[in-house]
Amino acid sequence: METYKNPAAPIADRVEDLLGRMTLEEKVGQTNQLVGVEHFRQNLASLTADDLFRNTAQAIYPGHKPEELEKWTRQGIVGSFLHVITLEEANRLQHLAMESRLAVPLLFGIDAIHGNANCPDNTVYPGNLGLACSFNTGLARRIARQTAAEMRAMNMHWTFNPNVEVAHDARWGRCGETYGEDRCLVERMGVETVHGLQGNLDSTADVAACAKHFVGGSRPDNGTNGSPCDVSERTLRTTFFPPFKATVDAGVATVMPSHNELNGIPCHSSRWLMTDVLRHEWGFNGFVVSDWMDIEHVHDLHGTAETVEDAYRQSIMAGMDMHMHGPDWVDAVCSLVKEGVISEQRIDESVRRILELKFCLGLFEHPYADPETSMQVRLCDEHRRTALEAARQSIVLLKNDGLLPLDPNRYRKILVTGINARDENIMGDWSASQRPENVVTILEGISSFVGDGCEVLYVSQGWDPRNMSSERVTHAAEVAREADLNIVVAGEYMMRWRWNDRTCGEDTDRSDVNLVGLQNELIRRVAESGKPTILVLVNGRPLGVEWAASNLPAIVEAWEPGMYGGQAVAEILFGKVNPSAKLSITIPRSVGQIHCHYDHKPSQYFHPYACSSSEPLYPFGYGLSYTTYSYSGLAAEGEICADGTGSIDVSVDVANTGSVDGEEIVQLYIRDVYSTFTRPVKELKDFKRVALKAGESKRVHFTLTPEMLAMPDADYHWVIEPGDFVVMAGSSSRDNDLLKIKINVKK
Ligand code: GLC
Repeated sequence: METYKNPAAPIADRVEDLLGRMTLEEKVGQTNQLVGVEHFRQNLASLTADDLFRNTAQAIYPGHKPEELEKWTRQGIVGSFLHVITLEEANRLQHLAMESRLAVPLLFGIDAIHGNANCPDNTVYPGNLGLACSFNTGLARRIARQTAAEMRAMNMHWTFNPNVEVAHDARWGRCGETYGEDRCLVERMGVETVHGLQGNLDSTADVAACAKHFVGGSRPDNGTNGSPCDVSERTLRTTFFPPFKATVDAGVATVMPSHNELNGIPCHSSRWLMTDVLRHEWGFNGFVVSDWMDIEHVHDLHGTAETVEDAYRQSIMAGMDMHMHGPDWVDAVCSLVKEGVISEQRIDESVRRILELKFCLGLFEHPYADPETSMQVRLCDEHRRTALEAARQSIVLLKNDGLLPLDPNRYRKILVTGINARDENIMGDWSASQRPENVVTILEGISSFVGDGCEVLYVSQGWDPRNMSSERVTHAAEVAREADLNIVVAGEYMMRWRWNDRTCGEDTDRSDVNLVGLQNELIRRVAESGKPTILVLVNGRPLGVEWAASNLPAIVEAWEPGMYGGQAVAEILFGKVNPSAKLSITIPRSVGQIHCHYDHKPSQYFHPYACSSSEPLYPFGYGLSYTTYSYSGLAAEGEICADGTGSIDVSVDVANTGSVDGEEIVQLYIRDVYSTFTRPVKELKDFKRVALKAGESKRVHFTLTPEMLAMPDADYHWVIEPGDFVVMAGSSSRDNDLLKIKINVKK
């Protein structure tokens, strides 16, 4: 038997053996990723030339036929597919790969961002931004593990997740797929997601993760996806790099650069990012995959390569390993090698990394998934329960003047209206349409809670916030007068299958952060009924709902709560679940407040805004509960020295002073009082979810380590400067919610 086919041989030997048998074309073929054949077929009729240039979700290959993709697969010159969304197609294409000369299996990549939701009949968990509001890293890991199982049950091996960008701009439609604005939270959620997805990367229960997008796209110049990012190296190293470094330390198998240019260099041709930092500084040994047509964009958008071929050369020489996606790559790269522009050794490096992953995932031994058992894994009870639990933990109660929780027997007529009241849009971006029986809409959730004598009056506003009708708004306002409670379910529209109609999600950025369309008018007119009015928001980015915050008694931020979002929202409204989530991102009042992240520099609001508040609408870490918590007795014991030794035990008493059991997210922040370079006014360093029965109190301990106090020196080496630090613990990032104590770091 050939060594590479021998499961007992060491992986390194199998890789070398296989590599030694490959032609140049087969090698480059391994770095070649294409969209699925069915995807190609389905889009044939609809995509325009402009879509092909701009749309980052759909593609066809003009001048080619879908069957050619099958031919290339049989020839062994395709290494990977993306956007294959059924098990049948995955297995079918894999059969073709098995017919190729060396029978190297295909690696199927998919955007399983919150569950393998782009594919039919999979569990849809809450989106990442909401999930991060749970501050529950164990839950993130469990969801990732379950997602891996559902993926493998569909013969999918690699997800383009986690997105570990630090989100700094609410206009950006992709905030929802990140874990928010804080480096520490993003890092922890991202690392646990990698562990959950990958396990030990050595079995058919594991999938490869992808840390993306490296880097800077989450602070886009004008808020639009892929617009330039100009930030200092210091900010990169203190804010945007750390989550990527942490996922590399956690063994993430792949990394994807971002669409944007960073400080004048497209990330896809940046040797500094892909080789110097990623490989040399951090020791990354997986492979780098490009984002959608972004190597081409080095030429046709950024204009730093005169030809596409030169863009390919620049990107490969900068450290790119796999091309997402297109029909011309293999020929062009083979020519570059034959002309001596790129060495075959350079190609070998990339192929080694890709083959190694295929061996690790067991693809040579298990190229298929079993259609007979697939549905035993997907949507199984355990996964559904986790989706519900995650929704409960990610919904943030933003405002409550005592109206909530609702007594189900108190109301006779409840008006439910708004674009998101009866829509599968609760599943959020990166989800395909799912069977209605697997989705609980908010209207369904509410209807299942009300008492027998209560009527739910539903007034549809359609699904489309851009095209609301004033007649329907008027109708809702009229019904509100009859009702004794109003629930308006507003927000954004994220479903991918209506790509051009969305208001939020990938490539759907806004120049504003208010509610689109007639939604504000709807809220105002319903509230004018004088009946208590609750606003429930479903959205993948912060929304500056200032009017509602000042005028309504209750606001619930549900984010993209997933398939059981409607049930979880209702459980919170009716008090079956005590809300516990805290904001993973600051909510600005208006678009003018963009970059209002809590960890800003000391001078940021030295001169406050004239004519409007400088305070955000709701700060990072904030979220209400049906109980109250009190903090006392903050203490710090131990010592940290500037040489990096020692540790400090920080502890605080947290008491549930209300009458309901709850879970509190206790947050630990620091501030370096004087430092050589400016540092943020607060930096989150740790957090704990603590369950507290009514009346119960617990002493919560954190270990402050030297690394938590460190900052980069002039040469970007992480150092701890001696002197005073303020340590803060409490229930949100807001000063009033924090106890403070000083510690001193000795020389
Ligand atoms: C996109 C995205 C990326 C995604 C890829 C494949 O354009 O930027 O996050 O993984 O395409 O769908």
